[in-house]
Amino acid sequence: MNNDLQLSLEQTDIDGFQNDLITWFKEEQRSLPWRENKDPYRVWVSEIMLQQTRVDTVIPYFNRFMEWFPTLDAFAEADEEKMLKAWEGLGYYSRVRNLHTAVKEVKESYGGAVPDDPKGISALKGVGPYTAGAILSIAYGKPEPAVDGNVMRVLSRILLIREDIAKPKTRKTFEEAVRALISHEDPSSFNQGLMELGALICTPGKPACLLCPVRNHCQAFEAGIQSELPIKIQKKKSRDVPLVSAILTNEKGEILIHKRPSSGLLANLWEFPNFEMQTTLQPKRDFYAGRFLEAYGAKPLMGDHLVKIEHIFSHLVWKVDTYTGCMDSPLDEEVMQANQLRWASLQDLEEYAFPVSNQKMLKAYVEREEE
Ligand code: ADE
Repeated sequence: MNNDLQLSLEQTDIDGFQNDLITWFKEEQRSLPWRENKDPYRVWVSEIMLQQTRVDTVIPYFNRFMEWFPTLDAFAEADEEKMLKAWEGLGYYSRVRNLHTAVKEVKESYGGAVPDDPKGISALKGVGPYTAGAILSIAYGKPEPAVDGNVMRVLSRILLIREDIAKPKTRKTFEEAVRALISHEDPSSFNQGLMELGALICTPGKPACLLCPVRNHCQAFEAGIQSELPIKIQKKKSRDVPLVSAILTNEKGEILIHKRPSSGLLANLWEFPNFEMQTTLQPKRDFYAGRFLEAYGAKPLMGDHLVKIEHIFSHLVWKVDTYTGCMDSPLDEEVMQANQLRWASLQDLEEYAFPVSNQKMLKAYVEREEE
């Protein structure tokens, strides 16, 4: 366990926290159809439906599902048509397909009894660590963590955990925290209490701390920084960069190459001359020939489309349409010098350093020539 978490747990009155959370949950919990009993099948179906779908939306679907398939056996026998109909509108249909596969396995391999141990349950299709923990704690009363985004938000505040919840490995920290905090007398109410708190009080943005039953245990509230947690670092969207490139030859069969600027992306590497499109609507050959003429004062004759290369950098994605071609009019020596252009034979190209994307273009070109 990392040091910060350990220190934070040492400052926590664990018994008091459990008591306040569970007492509140028992009094204030919403009446939801999957809370009517502890049938593991019902708990399971509800947890799968609640992934990526709001409670209000799930309720009617859950009720209809239980009318159509009241037991695990009944659902195991369901035909695909009806199963998909039951899910129609919920989206993410792989959830119900996986559920169906897993339920059939439970029927065949476990005599219809949902496994009550982490190993057995986690081996079922579509049952990840969260779902496994939810079923084990809610249906079977096992002290297992069930950590989803809501629970991470709540506990990041209670324990002042500043790890980035967008990182997959952060869930492990929160699972450790739950293992240290969870009530062994009533794991079900404890885990559901965390979920309920996240849904009703400890919401994203501005939580309703004045109504919170565990405010006295909350380190973020004490420090007044509850709105700053959890830390979730947005992945920067990578930008698509549409490029047109060409392998242009002269009458000697040499290939035109260009040296990239001495700073920035792939500095000083060589490449085949290329231009970024502002809009992908125009014809690419015309665009390339036009931009080439503007830049270097001579016009290439465009040939076939050779290959489309995608290259992913951390912040952008090059999408390079690559053509063959040759020069219609000669390039001026001075212009070539000024723009770091050079003619090189296929053999000489081996002496130059090219980005991987351009190596792929060259490979496509060489393979084409060899045909
Ligand atoms: N969100 C995920 N699981 C839930 C549950 N069992 N009750 C309410 N909201 C939930």
